[in-house]
Order: sequence, then C-alpha cells, then structure tokens
Amino acid sequence: MVAVQLPEAVRSRRLLLRRWTVDDVDLLAAAVANNIEHLRPWMPWVADEPMARSDRAAVMHDWDRSWRSGGDVVMAMVLDDGVVGGTGLHRGRDPRCLEIGYWVDRDHTGQGLATEAAETLTGVAFSMPDIETVEIHHDRANVASGAVPARLGYACAGERPDRVQAPGECGIDCTWRVTRARWAALRASQLAAARISGRGPRRRPMRPAGR
Ligand SMILES: CC(C)(COP(=O)(O)OP(=O)(O)OC[C@H]1O[C@@H](n2cnc3c(N)ncnc32)[C@H](O)[C@@H]1OP(=O)(O)O)[C@@H](O)C(=O)NCCC(=O)NCCS
Repeated sequence: MVAVQLPEAVRSRRLLLRRWTVDDVDLLAAAVANNIEHLRPWMPWVADEPMARSDRAAVMHDWDRSWRSGGDVVMAMVLDDGVVGGTGLHRGRDPRCLEIGYWVDRDHTGQGLATEAAETLTGVAFSMPDIETVEIHHDRANVASGAVPARLGYACAGERPDRVQAPGECGIDCTWRVTRARWAALRASQLAAARISGRGPRRRPMRPAGR
C-alpha cells in the first residue's frame, strides 16, 4: 500500500513548519552548527557533525525522496523568517501511527515552541484519515523533551530499555501516546474552556473533559 503524502507546510500561532528542501542545505548546516553542544546529549545524528556539504545534500535528497513516496516529513521550525529548530512526522512500523520529533535552537528554548510545534503536528497527523495514534518518544533522562507531550495531554504509554544512542541518554525509552478520540476530546475541552474564559485557547495542561 502506498502511504498518503504528508503535508509539507503548516502554520501555528507563531511558527511556520515547513519541509526542508535540498536548497536549504546551508541554512540547515548553520542552524545545526549553532546548536552542536546543545543537541549532542540527545540527538544521535549529531555524532556525524560537522557533515560535508555534499553529504548533507545527499541526506536531504533522501528526505525529499522519502517524503515524495509517502514517507516522513522533516521540517524546519521558522519564526519571523529565521530557523529556530527542526521537527517532523515520522512513520514507524504501524501504518496507523505517526511519531513526532523536535529540537529547538538553544536561544529559543523555554518559550513553548516545541509544545506549539508538537500540538500543531498532532493535529496535522490526525488530519490524515489513516492515522489513529500519534507518539512522542524520548530518553528518560531528557526531562525537557518529556514535558512536551505531558503538557499536551498525551498519555504515558510505558518505558522500555533501549540502546543508548546519544551521550545524555540513560537507555530507557519513554513512549507518550495520544489516540484520535482522546485528541478530539482534548481539543473540545480546550475550546470550551476558551469560550468560558473569553480568552484564546488554554495552552497547558490540556485535560479531556471528565477525566
Ligand atoms: C526538548 C526541547 C525540544 C524543548 O523545547 P522548548 O521549546 O524549550 O520546549 P517548550 O518551551 O515547549 O517547553 C519548555 C518550557 O517552556 C515553557 N513555556 C513557555 N510558554 C509556553 C507555552 N505557551 N506553552 C507551553 N510551554 C510554555 C514551559 O513551561 C517549559 O518550561 P519548564 O521546563 O520550566 O516547565 C529543547 O530543550 C531541545 O531542543 N532540546 C535538545 C534536543 C532534544 O532533546 N530534542 C528532543 C529529543 S527526544
């Protein structure tokens, strides 16, 4: 079965999330170079940095090919025309599940950007008719990463031993999961709270009505 192509761009309140293309090779290199020590503890691919320009272009060609054939979408987080991180939707073994990944530029953390991107991509994932669950995975030692799905109302779906792939990791994978039905309930309670308070949607924590 050929998977449906994932969207290549979406806007949230502050961010543009858009697919990296091969033309962005220098933009991505600069964003990564600025964040090497910030990302090294948690992102296994940092071990390959600094990457030759031609190697990075080849990786980005692969991303492009994969996206065109219905695979992962690997995106830039753009704020006010500047790159402030990376995110994306990734396909796993279960064709009804998508996983969200993210990293945020070291000078832009603590502003809710990862939470905003993950919230938006969860909505994008459930706009795909075949998707029933969305997951976020992180190593147990990566507390900042785990705070993102927790704030969004994802349920903790367990921990399991995993290979240590980056120097900050302890080797325990934490899985957070949200189902289509739970996400719809979370959205409904968030909108209801916003209507009652007369303010914009509540950012955190999200809780489905009656739970
Ligand atoms: C993990 C990581 C992506 C978090 O990014 P972030 O943008 O700082 O995350 P958020 O801002 O959404 O949440 C962090 C803080 O912002 C605060 N915040 C501010 N405004 C917010 C809003 N509108 N909504 C939600 N949180 C908000 C939160 O309270 C939180 O603060 P706290 O940790 O004191 O509770 C970032 O630290 C990072 O890039 N780490 C290195 C790479 C990495 O670990 N990636 C994940 C691999 S699994």
